[in-house]
Parts: sequence; C-alpha cells; structure tokens
Amino acid sequence: MEKQIKELLSVSKVGDVIKINGWVRTRRDAGQFSFVQINDGSSIDGLQVVVPGELENYKSEIAHLTTGSSLTVEGQLVESLGKGQAFELQARKVVVHGNAPADYPLQKKRHTFEFLREIAHLRARTNSLGAVARVRSSLSYAVHKFYTERGFFNVHTPIITTSDCEGAGAMFRVTTIDPENPPKTEDQKIDYRKDFFGKPASLTVSGQLEGEAYALALGRIYTFGPTFRAENSNTPRHLAEFWMIEPEVAFCDLNGVMDLAEEFVRYLANYVLENNRDDLEFFDKRIDNTVLSTLENIASEPFARISYTEAIELLQSGKEKFEFPTSWGCDLQTEHERYLTEKVYKKPVIVYDYPKEIKAFYMKLNEDGKTVRAMDVLVPRIGELIGGSEREENHDLLVERMRQSGLDEKDYWWYLDLRKFGSAPHGGFGLGFERLLLLSTGMQNIREVIPFPRFPGSAEF
Ligand code: 4AD
Ligand code: MG
Repeated sequence: MEKQIKELLSVSKVGDVIKINGWVRTRRDAGQFSFVQINDGSSIDGLQVVVPGELENYKSEIAHLTTGSSLTVEGQLVESLGKGQAFELQARKVVVHGNAPADYPLQKKRHTFEFLREIAHLRARTNSLGAVARVRSSLSYAVHKFYTERGFFNVHTPIITTSDCEGAGAMFRVTTIDPENPPKTEDQKIDYRKDFFGKPASLTVSGQLEGEAYALALGRIYTFGPTFRAENSNTPRHLAEFWMIEPEVAFCDLNGVMDLAEEFVRYLANYVLENNRDDLEFFDKRIDNTVLSTLENIASEPFARISYTEAIELLQSGKEKFEFPTSWGCDLQTEHERYLTEKVYKKPVIVYDYPKEIKAFYMKLNEDGKTVRAMDVLVPRIGELIGGSEREENHDLLVERMRQSGLDEKDYWWYLDLRKFGSAPHGGFGLGFERLLLLSTGMQNIREVIPFPRFPGSAEF
C-alpha cells in the first residue's frame, strides 16, 4: 500500500521526492503549465500539483484533465506560494488511470445535500460527505475504545429476532413465505409455522433484551450494531436503518446509568475535538458555526439533570409557545426537548422518571407507581440522543407490566428467566450513532451522516 497525502504531508519536507494517488478536484490552466488540486480522501486537505507543460503526456492528457479523474503523480515537494498550504508538488510524472467525462455529476460548484443524496455512491468524494465519513469512522473507534478501557465486553446481538424489544410493533418482517401463495392454516390465516424460522420473525429494533442476558453473565457489556424501525417518520432525525450503541450493566441503578451516559458523551466529544480537528473546523466554517462551541461545552461542562415532572413545569412556565401543548403524562416532542437543552440550560440535559404509560414495558417502576426509572439525554440542535433506564428486575412486576402493555409473556419466556435465576438490579441505554454524528458535524439531516440512508420510500444503493 502506498502512503496517502495526510501521512506524506505529516512526515515530508521541502525537497522530498514523493508519489501520491488521488482524484482531481480542479484543474486550472496557467498557460505553460497546469495547477491540479488532488484529494485522496485521507483528509479534508488535498495537495496542489503543478504539472509543467514539458511532460510527455501534457498535451494528450493533462491539458484535458477533468474533475473526478484519477491520477498517480510523482514529483518533488516545493514551498507553496499559495495561501493556506505549506507545500505543492512539482510533478515529474503523471499517470492518468481513469478519466471522468463531462457528465461527472460532481463539478466544481455547490450542490444541495438533497441532490448529493441521489448520487450517494459518489457523494463521499465531496468535502462535506468525506469529512462526515472520517468523523463517523473515528467516533466508531472511540466507542469501542471507551468501553474496552472500562472493562465492558462487546456482544454481537442478533439482527433477526422473534421478540419486539420496544413493544411498539414498528418492525420489518423477515420471511421466506411467497407473498403470492402463502401457506394457510385451517382458518385461512398465514401459517408462520411453515415460515423459515417456524414463527414470525423481524429485523431487530434494539439489541437490549439479548444484551441484558449477557450483562447478567459478564457484568458489563455493550452492543454496537444496526437496528431497524419501520415507523413512517419522515423527519431529519429518523432513519429506518440506524446504528445504536447499547451498554448494559449489572448491579447498576438509574444514577449509575445516567453517570455512564454522561461520561460516554463527554468522552466522545473530547475524542473528536482531539482527533478530528481539521474536519470539525471545516464543519464549523461551512456547515454550522456552533459545532465546535457545542462540542467544547459538552466536553467541559457537567450535564443538567431534572425529573420529567420538573421538565413539564419548565415547559408550562409560559415563557415559550409550543406547537404541541404539554401536560403531565404527555410524551416530550423535539421542540420541548430542544427548548430545555438550548434555551433553559444551554447544555445537555438528562430528564429522568418518566410516566410509565409513555415508556417501554421493561423499565423499573418507581415507588410512586406512576413513573419509571427511565432517562433520556437531550442535546442542543437534536433533542433526544440517548434513551435508557434501570430495568425491572422483579419477575412478577415485569409480568404485570407486560400484560398492561398488551404483550404475551410466553413470547418473552427467556427474558423472564433472567428474573427467575439470579436476578439483579441492572440498567443501560441506547445512543443513536447517527444523532451523535448530527451533533458532531452540524449536518441538518440524518440522511447525510450514514453512507446509504434508508427511509420511507428509499432504499436505493
Ligand atoms: O429510545 P430508544 O428507542 O431506546 C431503545 O431502543 C432502548 N432499547 C435502548 C436501551 O435502553 N438499550 O432508542 C435509543 C436511541 C434514541 O435515543 C435515538 O438516539 C436513537 O436511538 N433512535 C434513532 N435514531 C435514528 N433513527 C431512528 N428511527 C431512531 N430511533 C431511535
Ligand atoms: Mg427513546
């Protein structure tokens, strides 16, 4: 493997002879020679190459080089007279691997993100989407680093499942039944006993339930995988396929869960600030000028913590008009979440002890009988970044909550076993990885922070 521009520029000095590979961003004709801006994806910065007219393929190839063409350039590093760069490369040999004809869609002009989404197979070659991809990779590594350093084990929970974790029914069915000719039972219903898994199966909405089984064996685990929601949410914060990080800790109560969530988010903010400075500065300058200050604030300030009841009181103070009015018992909308974190506290807020009616069946009931030990982490610009809870560890109370939620406890026999055999207090949360990326890049729409987004009406690529 040959060195990439980022590494070359960090170790090279004027006078060195180097070789680079990459794609042409622009070519400017300067009479006897050409300036060619090359980017190889290794960083937001490319390298300017000066190609002299004397090169043997100058007239035949270089003079017609178009944006998007791929090259290998050998030459000598010289001091750059242009602003913003220390070096440029004085080419001695240029090999053109592939041309990009005039219909290459990424010509040098501003494209809308909506347009770029339609060419998602090419959009990582733009500055913005390339930077998103690098920050995404870096944060993914930071997630594993954070948990590994704290004695957590990474568990690969199943993608195909027969239990509905959130009990919300927003699942994609997985089946090999022929829709034109399904097997039928005697009373003319579809006979799922004849389906691939012998019963209805779906893509998972969360790895939590299986994660709990492993936490109650290994003590501390986390999952980091794709999750799927068939909800028809056409918002800039929802995807049908997204990645979630779910830690689960045995012998841990809601306070421990909140402490872990806060430490985790602050660690990640610090990590990108230290390791992705160039890309973050690009986002701050070109996409949203609050990116750096928000991340710095997260890294340095403790989060606010308020109960759901206090949150409702703040929302009802009358200082702000909302589209959806609030009352005790209602679910918080994004506008409410953003008001709390952006206007009231101006930093992330953890809201805890939600009414049981609006939360999932597995959350531990508080002594008041009305609220559960749930918590959401709300962050500026996004609203909910994390949802989590202490889990109900009492077998009989859990069965009751399942019945109240309309779930059949027989479907969850193994989950209930965890409360029968050595049950222990435990809890965890889920962090939506793409929401973290919205926070870290300033991008407006979640469809821009996953390489090939899936949302209602779209699974192209
Ligand atoms: O709040 P949620 O639904 O919680 C769970 O799934 C729990 N089982 C997690 C746990 O306790 N282990 O989802 C967790 C997070 C949300 O806070 C949000 O950041 C993200 O996942 N999320 C989505 N991100 C993108 N698109 C969607 N449709 C999302 N739904 C949830
Ligand atoms: Mg939630």
